[in-house]
Amino acid sequence: MANLVLLLVLLVATKSLPVAHCNDDNVGFQLKLTHVDAGTPYTKPQLLSRAIARSKARMAALQAVAAVAAPLVDPITAARVLVMSGTGEYLVGLAIGTPPLYYTAIMDTGSDLIWTQCAPCLLCADQPTPYFDARRSATYRALPCRSPRCAALSYPACFQKVCVYQYYYGDTASTAGVLANETFTFGGAGNSTKVRAPNIAFGCGSINAGDLANSSGMVGFGRGPLSLVSQLGPSRFSYCLTSYLSPTPSRLYFGAFATLNSTNTSSGSPVQSTPFVVNPALPNMYFLSLKGISLGTKRLPIDPLVFAINDDGTGGVIIDSGTSITWLQQDAYDAVRRGLLSAILLPAMNDTDIGLDTCFPWPPPPNLAVTVPDLVLHFDSANMTLPPENYMVIASTTGYLCLAMAPSGVGTIIGNYQQQNLHILYDVANSFLSFVPAACDII
Ligand SMILES: *[C@@H]1O[C@H](CO)[C@@H](O)[C@H](O)[C@H]1NC(C)=O
Ligand SMILES: *[C@@H]1O[C@H](CO)[C@@H](O)[C@H](O)[C@H]1NC(C)=O
Ligand SMILES: *[C@@H]1O[C@H](CO)[C@@H](O)[C@H](O)[C@H]1NC(C)=O
Ligand SMILES: *[C@@H]1O[C@H](CO)[C@@H](O)[C@H](O)[C@H]1NC(C)=O
Ligand SMILES: *[C@@H]1O[C@H](CO)[C@@H](O)[C@H](O)[C@H]1NC(C)=O
Ligand SMILES: *[C@@H]1O[C@H](CO)[C@@H](O)[C@H](O)[C@H]1NC(C)=O
Ligand SMILES: *[C@@H]1O[C@H](CO)[C@@H](O)[C@H](O)[C@H]1NC(C)=O
Repeated sequence: MANLVLLLVLLVATKSLPVAHCNDDNVGFQLKLTHVDAGTPYTKPQLLSRAIARSKARMAALQAVAAVAAPLVDPITAARVLVMSGTGEYLVGLAIGTPPLYYTAIMDTGSDLIWTQCAPCLLCADQPTPYFDARRSATYRALPCRSPRCAALSYPACFQKVCVYQYYYGDTASTAGVLANETFTFGGAGNSTKVRAPNIAFGCGSINAGDLANSSGMVGFGRGPLSLVSQLGPSRFSYCLTSYLSPTPSRLYFGAFATLNSTNTSSGSPVQSTPFVVNPALPNMYFLSLKGISLGTKRLPIDPLVFAINDDGTGGVIIDSGTSITWLQQDAYDAVRRGLLSAILLPAMNDTDIGLDTCFPWPPPPNLAVTVPDLVLHFDSANMTLPPENYMVIASTTGYLCLAMAPSGVGTIIGNYQQQNLHILYDVANSFLSFVPAACDII
């Protein structure tokens, strides 16, 4: 093990040929997305504060990533902190190998690798299903060092002619092992048929650490060539997240199934689209160009530069499924807070229990008519209108209404609380995000 670890650390090579799409263009399927806390006995306020705590950890991990991903850091340090965070908010079900071994994994739109813990394990976290044992699968193929897929790793390494990967997730989570081809099985939810996808490159992790949220691995949905969405064709996916804490699972659509219905939506709103922006320091993540924010019809005084990506790779605006609340760059947060204070006309207070800063006593006194306006995110070529239930949250048993956002010293992350009841399409091949309001609870 010491040798392997040494190799992992020392053998740092260059990037990177893209991985070709290898599958039929018409392939498509849907999956259920289960919230990581689904089925746990926590109360709603507890669930909320757990989600906010996870979100803080993910933000801290992102800051660590951004800090070292900046150009000119030595490559070994950069290799150690490649991607955002070990935990996410949603789990997907899938199966690996032949015969298929079913398991659940964290869906991560912030990273690219698909990986699971493999037997024999040098170091593994507990997981609810057996470790994948490559020796029992007829379709497992370790990738040779000269494989283009090996070169697609940011920091490929070679051990006994086999391609070795190593990922660190910015917090304490990490995985290392062999990069291999394997057959994966998806689908079966709703009316979708099962889809078997051969030759998907994945990480067979034999040295792993971190919290897998009672799952057995991760599935990267990022923009990189090794992500699931990049390996399946056509390279696009969409999801429809149900109301926060709803018992109804959310839905994930792949390939040909990932299309937005522009007509007959609950609100009649049109599909809107905005291009992704590339941040060379964090190429796996979905950056958007945000120009401003309105409360109701009032445009808030925010310098658009606060949303820009800095030369060192920090800053910018990411859309993420694995962060619950939104992290707004400090100046933008202050402007939203001031805007809310003048719109809501109640004394603002802190809900330290839940960890949110901008809260109002709720319900308001009966003699006071309070209208909470919509909040609009003005992206390049698209406006995303968030009704109050998408950005305010009844935070605790004491009855506060809180802004489901927190201030960030660095960049902005649009979290999944803000994405409820929107059908959101990530067109990776054509590099844009589309969205439309949708009744995700009843689709
Ligand atoms: C499957 O399709 C049938 C007919 O189109 C429909 O009635 C049924 O509700 C669908 N089931 C699920 C689980 O979507
Ligand atoms: C892995 O899959 C890719 C894509 O289908 C294929 O080109 C490559 O030959 C496979 N490698 C091995 C070792 O099976
Ligand atoms: C962990 O997952 C297993 C199987 O997926 C499930 O039966 C069990 O209840 C889960 N445990 C917790 C604590 O969520
Ligand atoms: C889009 O509309 C079609 C036809 O009404 C329907 O079958 C399909 O389920 C809808 N898809 C989504 C994601 O809402
Ligand atoms: C939209 O709704 C109308 C009336 O309810 C219906 O006639 C039409 O077929 C629907 N269109 C789609 C694409 O589902
Ligand atoms: C809320 O509490 C935090 C930390 O305790 C503090 O930094 C912040 O200024 C407080 N905000 C308000 C509005 O009192
Ligand atoms: C977005 O909203 C702004 C302000 O209301 C408006 O000027 C602009 O035309 C809208 N853009 C789109 C694409 O709807």
